[in-house]
Order: sequence, then structure tokens, then C-alpha cells
Amino acid sequence: MRLVSRICLFLLLCVAFCVTARARDDQCLSCHKTYNSYFTTAHHLTSRLATRQSILGRFNDILKTSEPELFYKLEAKPDGFFQTGVLGTPPDTVSISQRFDLVIGSGRKGQTYLYWGENDRLFQLPVSYWTALGRWVNSPGYGDRTLDFSRPVLPRCLECHASSFQPDTNVANRYGRANFVLGVSCERCHGPGAQHIALNSDPNAKPEQQAIVNPAKLPRERQIDLCGLCHGGVGVAKTRPFSFNVGNVLAEHIQLEQPKPDEPLDVHGNQLALLERSKCFKESDMTCSTCHDVHQPQRDASYFSEKCLQCHKVQSCGLFPKRGRALVGKCVDCHLPNQNSNVIFSSHDRVRITPKVRNHWIKVYR
Ligand code: HEC
Ligand code: HEC
Ligand code: HEC
Ligand code: HEC
Ligand code: HEC
Ligand code: HEC
Ligand code: HEC
Repeated sequence: MRLVSRICLFLLLCVAFCVTARARDDQCLSCHKTYNSYFTTAHHLTSRLATRQSILGRFNDILKTSEPELFYKLEAKPDGFFQTGVLGTPPDTVSISQRFDLVIGSGRKGQTYLYWGENDRLFQLPVSYWTALGRWVNSPGYGDRTLDFSRPVLPRCLECHASSFQPDTNVANRYGRANFVLGVSCERCHGPGAQHIALNSDPNAKPEQQAIVNPAKLPRERQIDLCGLCHGGVGVAKTRPFSFNVGNVLAEHIQLEQPKPDEPLDVHGNQLALLERSKCFKESDMTCSTCHDVHQPQRDASYFSEKCLQCHKVQSCGLFPKRGRALVGKCVDCHLPNQNSNVIFSSHDRVRITPKVRNHWIKVYR
């Protein structure tokens, strides 16, 4: 009985907290109504509680592996969604079953799932979802030949895919289970907003200081640092995870990889280092916001081609004499091409599944 009530209390706390986090974004939007599209962005959707809506894969399905004696069952049950790995030939089988607790990935390319193990430790589940194929695949980092559910989720992963978690100082993948904020929230990019809200609660108030960070007013380097926290590669932590705040110097918190100028870079996950190689970036005051508006989905390549014309003319393209205005709306197709990443997302039935990613090195590709 005591255990049951403890579990209930725990669930209540969890629900209360997650609702608070969402409520804060809701609060921001109650005044900033033009930003409502934020709820449909990859940032907001990048981590969520596991529900029928947030999990893209189909249930009551089976994922076979390259090992004939190993398969996974994906099941929806009254107490949640489960992955069960089954190894062996009946009746001599062993199995491991765990629940989908958290979803990582908006689903632009795919999703991977986490479960809470013993002692509040977070692990990755062995089955992920791949959007281009529309089906389950084995998770990156897991082979598909052994029955294994033991891949720990380290803080840096959550630092990029969520807004806050409280990591244990002794156990690498143990977190406070009652207080975390999923998704990349408004406050993750704008800093704490309670004071800003209080200042503006009186509709006649005209506060001199808004007590909120507008990244557009930061120096260029600090704007880049905000995006670089999650779009500059994994790097090496110098301070506690989640200690970087908007406006801070990123290099004091994380040492990003410093690739040599001629070192090949993968297109995946390091938009920053690629952009930094571009002449456009070096010879102007370009930031990520020159092209992106992070408050709405960023999926329309022709919209971005217009952005080039802030600094270039259609006539400045070397192909203009031959192609003329047919180039309009297509600049990014040739100069920021969509390319396959060499970082394996997953290997399944011995086939490598690699994502296509926009190469942010703006240049002439032959
Ligand atoms: C009670 C209404 C209200 C709420 C709630 C609110 N804001 Fe504001 N916010 C304002 C007003 C008014 C301004 C000043 C006029 C403008 O820029 O729209 C402002 C300005 C801003 C600015 C620009 C500041 C600058 O210096 O240029 C940012 C960024 C911002 N708000 C973010 C947020 C975030 C994030 C939240 C949630 C944590 C939030 N706001 C909640 C009313 C509100
Ligand atoms: C706390 C980490 C974090 C920060 C800070 C952050 N991003 Fe992201 N961003 C992500 C993650 C994670 C994704 C992938 C989300 C997904 O699809 O699940 C993403 C996706 C994106 C996308 C793709 C959007 C789409 O519609 O698919 C763009 C563009 C982007 N970020 C730009 C930026 C810019 C510009 C900044 C700085 C102003 C920034 N991000 C700051 C973590 C972050
Ligand atoms: C340094 C920041 C960073 C770390 C660490 C990181 N990711 Fe990501 N992840 C991103 C960004 C940025 C994207 C989207 C852009 C891209 O694909 O280059 C992304 C994309 C993804 C996607 C595809 C999302 C979609 O819908 O397209 C999944 C799934 C994912 N990450 C899972 C994870 C997991 C699980 C971990 C940890 C075990 C992790 N990532 C670690 C930044 C990070
Ligand atoms: C991924 C980071 C990120 C997230 C998440 C984010 N913002 Fe912003 N926001 C920015 C950046 C960067 C700018 C400055 C854009 C520019 O340079 O024009 C900005 C600018 C603003 C401004 C000022 C606009 C102006 O015209 O001066 C407001 C208001 C604002 N954001 C509100 C919000 C609210 C409300 C949310 C949540 C619903 C939110 N932001 C979520 C990064 C973010
Ligand atoms: C010159 C314009 C430009 C600039 C500057 C720019 N981007 Fe992009 N970005 C694009 C285009 C174009 C796309 C592709 C959109 C699409 O096809 O949906 C894109 C896509 C993305 C994506 C989604 C990746 C994918 O392939 O799925 C992320 C993440 C991203 N940008 C992050 C950033 C970050 C972080 C910065 C700053 C370091 C940045 N971008 C600067 C033009 C730009
Ligand atoms: C903020 C201004 C700015 C924006 C926006 C911009 N560029 Fe540039 N770009 C420059 C500058 C400055 C140079 C260097 C001088 C030159 O070649 O004109 C440059 C150079 C180039 C070059 C020559 C690169 C090389 O290595 O020789 C190409 C190609 C290019 N830009 C294409 C684009 C495309 C395509 C876009 C849109 C996706 C774009 N630029 C957006 C400023 C910009
Ligand atoms: C079909 C592919 C294609 C499209 C679409 C395209 N370009 Fe180009 N662009 C090229 C090629 C190829 C070159 C190199 C031409 C040469 O050197 O003769 C080039 C060269 C350039 C240069 C560098 C010129 C120099 O001499 O430094 C700029 C700047 C540029 N393009 C901008 C743009 C802009 C802006 C757009 C959109 C209006 C655009 N391009 C559309 C293929 C393309």
C-alpha cells in the first residue's frame, strides 16, 4: 500500500512538473501570440514523454534482426508501450522487456527512445524509428545481433535534446526523475523569464529593462555560441552539464572540436564548423539567424534561397549568363546541397542507413 501511494505521489509530481514546463512556454505565448508556430518546431518536439501521439512507429509489430534467433516485439499495453527482445528457439528463449518512457527526436529524420531503469538511471532502447523508411530499425550504437538494453544515456545527449535535467554527480546516467524540462524551451534560448513576466503583467507597464535576453542584441560571437551549444558537435565538457546560459562564452563551458582547415567534416550535427568555413560567413557578419527563424519550422528550401539575395544578386552567380533567372529560388540546391552523412545512423540487415543532411559549407560544388 505504502509503495502504491509513493508511486502515485511520484507520478503526480512528474505530471505537475512537466505541466509547469509546458505552462511556462504557454505563458510566454499568452503575450507573444505571433510565436504560436513554435509548438510545431523541431526544437519544441525534440524530446517528449512517450505517448501514442509522440511515438511515430506502429505497435503490435515485430522487428527481425540479422540474427535469426533474435527479434523484438513492439507492443501497446494498458500500462504503456513496450519493446521486448526475444532470443533463442522456443521453448529455450530469454527475453528482456522495457517500457518507452521518453522520446528523443522530432521525427524529421527519426526517433530513438529511452527508459528509466533501476535507481533512476536512463538507458536507450534498442529499437528506434526511421522516418524515411517509415519503420522500426535497430538503434544507433546497438549492433543487431545481441540481446542488449544497456546503453546508458549521458548528460550531453540531454543537454542538446532537452532544456534541463539534474544529473547525479556520481552515476553518469542517473537523473532527478521528478524535475526535468523536455524540448528546447523558450527559456533555454532566452534565459529565465519569471521577472520579465512580472514586469509586463500590468498592461500599462513600460519597463526600461525587459529582464529577458534577446539574442539579436548580443554580440555576434555570443549569438553563435547559443546555437553552437547544440549545433557544434559533442566537444569536451569543462563545466557541469546544463550550466551554459544564453550570453555566456561557450568555450568556457565546452571545448568544441577544432578541426584543421583541410580536415574533412561530416555534414551531420556540426552546422557551425561547416558554416565557419564559408566565405559568406568569413566576409560578412552572418549568424544563423541571417537565414533561420527558430520560432517556426525550417523546412522550405526556396524560402532560404531568398535569404542569399540579402547580400548577392542573381547576376553574381557564375551560371547567370547561361541560366538567367531560372536560378531564382534554387540557390541552396547547388550551394548548400543535401548530402548523405557518413556517420552511421543505424545498420540493419547489414544495410547502412545514413541520413541526408544539409551541408552548411556554402561554396561552389563541382
Ligand atoms: C505579460 C506579457 C508577457 C509575457 C508573459 C512574456 N512577455 Fe516577453 N515581452 C512582453 C512585452 C510587452 C515586450 C516588449 C515589447 C515587444 O518586444 O513585444 C516583451 C519583449 C520580449 C523580448 C524582447 C526583449 C528585447 O530586449 O528586445 C523577448 C526575447 C521576450 N519578450 C521573450 C519572452 C519569453 C521567453 C517569455 C516567457 C518566459 C515572455 N517573453 C513572456 C510581454 C510579455
Ligand atoms: C539546447 C540545444 C539547442 C540549441 C541551443 C539550439 N538548437 Fe537547433 N536543434 C537542436 C536539436 C536537438 C535539433 C533537432 C531536433 C529534432 O529534429 O529532433 C535542432 C534543430 C534545429 C533546426 C532544424 C529545424 C527543423 O525544422 O527541422 C534548425 C534550423 C536549428 N535547430 C537552428 C538553431 C539555431 C539557429 C539555434 C540558435 C539560435 C539553435 N538551433 C539552437 C538543439 C538546439
Ligand atoms: C551536440 C549536441 C547533440 C548531442 C550530444 C546529441 N544530439 Fe541528437 N541531434 C542533434 C542535432 C543538432 C540534431 C539535428 C541536426 C542533424 O541531424 O544534424 C540531432 C538529431 C537527432 C535525431 C534525429 C531527430 C530527427 O527527428 O530528425 C535523433 C533521434 C537524435 N539526435 C538522438 C540523439 C540521442 C539519443 C543522443 C544521445 C545518446 C543524441 N542525439 C546526442 C544534437 C545532438
Ligand atoms: C532555439 C532558440 C530559441 C527558442 C527555443 C526561442 N527563441 Fe525567441 N529568439 C531566438 C533568437 C536567436 C532570437 C533573435 C532573432 C533575430 O536575430 O532576429 C529570438 C528573438 C525573440 C523575440 C524578439 C523578437 C524581436 O522582434 O525582437 C521574442 C519576443 C522571442 N524570441 C520570443 C520567444 C518565445 C515566446 C519563445 C517560445 C515560444 C522563443 N522565443 C523560443 C531564439 C529562440
Ligand atoms: C545561408 C543560409 C543559412 C545559414 C546562415 C544557416 N543555415 Fe541552417 N539551413 C539552411 C538551409 C537552406 C537548410 C535546409 C532547409 C531544408 O531543406 O529543410 C538548413 C537546415 C538546417 C538544419 C536542419 C538540418 C538538416 O539537414 O536536416 C539545421 C539543424 C540548421 N540548418 C542549423 C543551422 C545553424 C546552427 C546555423 C548557424 C551555425 C545555420 N543553420 C545557418 C540555411 C542556412
Ligand atoms: C550576410 C551576407 C551573405 C549572405 C546572406 C550570403 N552570402 Fe554568399 N557571400 C557573402 C560574401 C561577403 C562573400 C565573399 C565575397 C563574394 O564572393 O562575393 C560570399 C561568397 C559566396 C560564394 C563564393 C564562395 C567561394 O568559396 O568562392 C558563393 C557560392 C555564395 N556566397 C553563395 C551564397 C548563397 C547560395 C547564399 C544563400 C544560401 C549566400 N551566399 C548567402 C555574403 C553572403
Ligand atoms: C544549378 C546550380 C546553381 C544554382 C541554382 C545557383 N548556382 Fe551559383 N554557382 C553555380 C556554379 C557551378 C558556380 C561556379 C560558376 C563558375 O565558376 O563558372 C556558381 C557560382 C556562384 C557564386 C560565386 C561567383 C564567383 O565568381 O565567386 C555566387 C556568389 C553564386 N553562385 C550565387 C548564387 C545565388 C545567389 C544563386 C541563387 C539566385 C545561385 N548561385 C544559384 C551553381 C549554381
